[in-house]
Amino acid sequence: MNSTPFAILARERLSRRRFIAGASSLVAALYATQLGGCEQRRGSSLTFKSLSQTIADDDAVAAGYQATPIIRWGDPVMPDAPPFDPKKLTPADQALQFGYNNDFVAYFPLPRGSTQSDHGLLFVNHEYTNPELMFPDYDPANQTAVQTQVELMAHGASVVEVAREGRTWEVVANSAFARRITGDTMIAISGPAAGHYRLMTAEDPTGTRVRGTLGNCAGGTTPWGTALTCEENVQSYFGGSTTDELDAYRLSIMGFAAPGRFRPWHTSMARFDVAQVPNEPARFGWVVEVDPYDPHALPVKRTALGRFKHEAATTVVAVDGSLVVYMGDDEAGQYLYRYVSQGVFDPGRGAANSILLDEGTLYVARFDADGLSWLPLVQGQGPLTAANGFSSQAEVLIDVRLAALALGATPMDRPEDVEVDPVNGRVYVMLTNNTSRAAAQTDPANPRANNEHGHILELVPPASPDGTPDHSADRFQWDVFLLAGDAASGGRYGEGTQVWMSSPDNCAFDPKGRLWIASDQGKKQAVHGIADGMFACDTDGEGRAVLKFFYAVPRGAECCGPCFTPDGKTLFVAVQHPGEGEGSESSFGAPSTRWPDFKDDMPPRPSIVAIVKDDGRQIGG
Ligand code: FEO
Ligand code: CA
Ligand code: CA
Repeated sequence: MNSTPFAILARERLSRRRFIAGASSLVAALYATQLGGCEQRRGSSLTFKSLSQTIADDDAVAAGYQATPIIRWGDPVMPDAPPFDPKKLTPADQALQFGYNNDFVAYFPLPRGSTQSDHGLLFVNHEYTNPELMFPDYDPANQTAVQTQVELMAHGASVVEVAREGRTWEVVANSAFARRITGDTMIAISGPAAGHYRLMTAEDPTGTRVRGTLGNCAGGTTPWGTALTCEENVQSYFGGSTTDELDAYRLSIMGFAAPGRFRPWHTSMARFDVAQVPNEPARFGWVVEVDPYDPHALPVKRTALGRFKHEAATTVVAVDGSLVVYMGDDEAGQYLYRYVSQGVFDPGRGAANSILLDEGTLYVARFDADGLSWLPLVQGQGPLTAANGFSSQAEVLIDVRLAALALGATPMDRPEDVEVDPVNGRVYVMLTNNTSRAAAQTDPANPRANNEHGHILELVPPASPDGTPDHSADRFQWDVFLLAGDAASGGRYGEGTQVWMSSPDNCAFDPKGRLWIASDQGKKQAVHGIADGMFACDTDGEGRAVLKFFYAVPRGAECCGPCFTPDGKTLFVAVQHPGEGEGSESSFGAPSTRWPDFKDDMPPRPSIVAIVKDDGRQIGG
């Protein structure tokens, strides 16, 4: 047998695990305390039986559970929203109705600050649009200005009030909290890049105000009760071309491509034409903070968190009180980031804690076989100098990808969601896939060439003197948690796993510290022959990485969201782009599924699904 990257990885993994066992005994002790002693488990702690992995027109959930759509694209959000009629879509109506392609879901209890699990607000973002499934007789070569406006209004986010009665969740009509944020909503820009000349346009000569938020994918919540929503594939909204060499180079860093590749929005809206408004693209690609409890509060793009294809903004308060935010940049060969605030979180200060998102240090990860180093992205330090094109911290943040490259960060296999296990304090990173990695480009943290199925890394912060994990430390340990894929492609899970998964994307922890993983195979769903959906496993004990399949989304969809109520008795998931196909194979008139309505005159509709257990107890048992 050759010494394959796997064999090398396995050796490194063993030696690293021995090191971790010695170095983080305090973390282990904390973990044992929180579990009430070193309880020995037999296999997985999850009590449900895995579903069949069949791709189907309908969704499906494990026996003993109910999964019910509670709000769908086009359903009323604002009190004066008209009923949904897919044959008469208008921008004005769409701006009052639930948007398209729901991705991130966060639950905020009512009243604010409580742990009420039967009544709260759902913050949901709307990543992108599928015009071929939204509009009757859609012709991509002749998209109308009205269709573009409807799409713009179907982006952004929604806030809806929800309440549970028995096993049923319902959206509360005419709620005073209801809100739609669209691709046209006024949003403030704060932090080190606010007011920088590269964010100034004729419409906003101050560089501090921008209309809309676009491409919102995963996100996070703050300890003071706000939502963080992440602008991801913002390149896809812009068109036109520029003859300015520097502008063209800067555009290319975020993947802006030649006209015609993406949406034709620039043909009817000048601000999306880079020839007319060359600075508009730099006003997108940020993390946006929204206060769901105040429908009049201005959302804010927080530039201290950097500009890239954001995916996830998971916060944790470090032992020293600083706010730590973990973030991925979802593109093949891009990086994993962490932000540490300068000031400390003060529970008595409420929304004024937002300053923590404006003043702090952004870091990028470099993985070595013996540990992970967080490299600070600070102007003037190392190669981040004016001579290298970084004349201010604003320049570092606007072109963070270049700064990370200059520091020697580790190019990753598409970092998506990052979450912190509330029980063991470790950090889990979803690396969804990367088929463009060559064998010579593999490294310990990205061990597979042509990584079709992705993998999950486990990061281990060092223990602080009181035993709690120190998320603001400069050096962590790390491990490979699982390699996705079937046996033939080198999938590796905990012993006894009966299912397989591809392309881990979003994730969440239940209150018992078990990892719930949403999958997104994209166009490969039919090729792999398994449905996307929710998988779950333990992170410690005999059930570590023993994967079970809990919920299947319908044909063409990916599973997003996952979000538990504080009591762990409800799991909200977002079913995104049901019926999506390749090219023209699925359309408004002939979709590959009509989930969730299954009516002949109704297209498939992205929806939020509430999952509860028949006996009313915690999800997963
Ligand atoms: Fe929008 Fe990276 O998923
Ligand atoms: Ca995602
Ligand atoms: Ca996705």
